Amino acid sequence: MTKIRVRLRSGEEKDIAAQEDRSLMEALRDGGVEELLALCGGCCSCATCHVILEPGVFDALDSMNVDEDDLLDSSSHRRATSRLSCQVPVNALPDGAIITVAPED
Ligand code: FES
Repeated sequence: MTKIRVRLRSGEEKDIAAQEDRSLMEALRDGGVEELLALCGGCCSCATCHVILEPGVFDALDSMNVDEDDLLDSSSHRRATSRLSCQVPVNALPDGAIITVAPED
């Protein structure tokens, strides 16, 4: 299991234990982060699983594909370290990573 600290939109923090074979979106959903809607179920077509990562965590991940990049461009809350959590594998995250749920578009 990988420990993840989640910053919710309220500013509250929640610690979850994520299974390594999951996507970050699945892990957040399994951990009870209900404000992450993930409406498309992980098909990379909705952008409602938008999260903001710490710079060091973002830099260590594989580059995003064009579809993810285009979807993130549709968000008015995109930051330099934004990702769609359905495209991030838990096993690529360091233990103790801090994930911020992006504001709702
Ligand atoms: S769940 Fe829809 S893009 Fe990630």
